[in-house]
Amino acid sequence: MQVKGATIWVINGPNLNLLGEREPEIYGRETLTDVEKKIGEIAEENQVNLEFFQENEEGKLVTLIQKARLHADGLLLNPGAYSHYSLAIYDALRAITIPKVEVHISQVAAREEFRRNLLTAGACDGLIAGLGTYGYVLGLYALLELIKEG
Ligand code: DQA
Repeated sequence: MQVKGATIWVINGPNLNLLGEREPEIYGRETLTDVEKKIGEIAEENQVNLEFFQENEEGKLVTLIQKARLHADGLLLNPGAYSHYSLAIYDALRAITIPKVEVHISQVAAREEFRRNLLTAGACDGLIAGLGTYGYVLGLYALLELIKEG
């Protein structure tokens, strides 16, 4: 498919609204608005539309993922803590067929044991973790490739 004119949804889960002030030694000083701006510029350069969301509640994330199948050509998702245990989000991701990439800002593999299980990533095409907010940039580029291939 042609990438030009495609729409990418970026969905952020719980506590990511506090990015920049929340545990900055782990997640850095950039805010979610900074991230949105950074990847928004890349989207513009590539002539793709970007919609950026953040929700703290699991059910709202499920609804957004379901809606993505009707409005988006690709999904970049940071489910936050839900990544480690939400079957509802896992099922919602499995239910939609657009390309999906999961991103984590921190290096989850090097943190607490409970963060090593990345349930929802198993329903995505790819996973990026540990590269700070640059993971969103990489995730966007990966989606552009996946959409092109699709
Ligand atoms: C996170 C990692 C999760 O373990 C954590 O609960 C978050 C942020 C990350 O981006 O590194 O909220 O998804």
